[in-house]
Amino acid sequence: MKVYVLVGAGSRALYMFAKPMSAEWQEHVAFKGVYDINPVRAALLSQECGNVPVYDDFHKMLADVRPDVVVVASTDYTHHTYIIDSLRAGCDVITEKPMTIDEEKCRQILQAEKETGKKVTVTFNLRFAPYFAKVKELLLEGAIGDLYHVHLEWYLDRRHGADYFRRWHSELAKSGGLLVHKSTHHFDIINWWMASRPAEVHAFGARRVYGDNRAEKGERCLTCAYKSSCEYYMDIEQNPFMETYYHQAEQEDGYIRDRCLFDERIDIYDTMSVNVRYENEALLTYSLVAYSPVEGWRATLNGSGGRMELTNEYSNADMRQSDVSLIKITRPDGTVEQIEVVTSAAGHGGGDAKLRQALFAGNVEDPLGQQADSSIGADSLLIGATANRSIAEGRAVRFPDMTAASAASGQGSR
Ligand SMILES: NC(=O)c1ccc[n+]([C@@H]2O[C@H](COP(=O)([O-])OP(=O)(O)OC[C@H]3O[C@@H](n4cnc5c(N)ncnc54)[C@H](O)[C@@H]3O)[C@@H](O)[C@H]2O)c1
Repeated sequence: MKVYVLVGAGSRALYMFAKPMSAEWQEHVAFKGVYDINPVRAALLSQECGNVPVYDDFHKMLADVRPDVVVVASTDYTHHTYIIDSLRAGCDVITEKPMTIDEEKCRQILQAEKETGKKVTVTFNLRFAPYFAKVKELLLEGAIGDLYHVHLEWYLDRRHGADYFRRWHSELAKSGGLLVHKSTHHFDIINWWMASRPAEVHAFGARRVYGDNRAEKGERCLTCAYKSSCEYYMDIEQNPFMETYYHQAEQEDGYIRDRCLFDERIDIYDTMSVNVRYENEALLTYSLVAYSPVEGWRATLNGSGGRMELTNEYSNADMRQSDVSLIKITRPDGTVEQIEVVTSAAGHGGGDAKLRQALFAGNVEDPLGQQADSSIGADSLLIGATANRSIAEGRAVRFPDMTAASAASGQGSR
């Protein structure tokens, strides 16, 4: 049985990893330690997860436990240090997305992986959600021939979308903005469907709703003078998880979970448009907004042998949805086929549970190439990072070449 430790004790760490590792996966996983910069949050997680030992120093945890695998689920801008130090300590790494937030840190991770021969896996759970997986299966079967163009529109609602602007995600230096933090999921799915690599990126970004554009604002919702009139007011004390894990832990690190959406620190975009040209000349047109009245996505895929239309709207950020999703295929002769995909109400459309199976069970068959290695993690985060550069420089930017740093392990699939 492999020995695991965890870095990060926030909501993703708790629900995706710590709880399952200490319960239904405990016969496969020896979960031996947790480290978070906030000791209160780490202690709370430990209490809920079989009193796993809490460490106040990451390197001491590595030295004491000597884990086989380090799971990294801390804030995005800290991933690279934990990934690199873990690889250099002889561990494999399972990291949350995005693998990191910019080109330089990405290069350092790939270099460390190459030098150590250890392995980084990136947890792209959407690859495991049945709707996305069925599309990949159909594409592999040639359902619409060669794929020439994808149009993906993703819209976050005013609860889920706004939530990114309350926290560290709202600062470009901490998350890479939503084009890295959020869109890394979407770019990964497109890269996987395209079965090609990005070549050039041109993007635009704007901040229209959140950020320093309102006079009626405060430091945080809890103490705000405008709580009765602000449409985005969130009562942190009414949410037991946020109250205990964040509000009652904030004296340790100053992490304010209900920070004002109109804070002047906010420097990420809430309205984004990206075009990508792939090496095989296929094209992507992508957009993301973070203030839609409804949450979901629509995609259209056009190929040499037809058109595929997909759409999904969610009732919450965990992508809970109806039981069945539809794939509509129209062929050049006008015939239409509707394919029903049975989906799941579980986390991220059932993707989280299937991903854990692939991570922890070992030797799981992977005919669709759903497991993602560091080069796959790099390709998706670098579309976002390159889009950020394109916005800043006002021009199309060539996709960075990582081949010199990459170990090219060959796991997973584009
Ligand atoms: N795959 C998915 O669907 C999905 C969903 C949510 C979050 N995530 C990812 O999971 C990670 C955690 O997200 P979250 O929503 O739990 O955020 P969070 O803010 O709730 O938790 C982040 C944790 O990192 C800790 N932290 C901050 N700096 C640290 C440092 N230097 N060293 C160690 N710990 C540090 C914080 O104290 C906090 O406990 C992020 O990378 C995020 O992108 C993935």
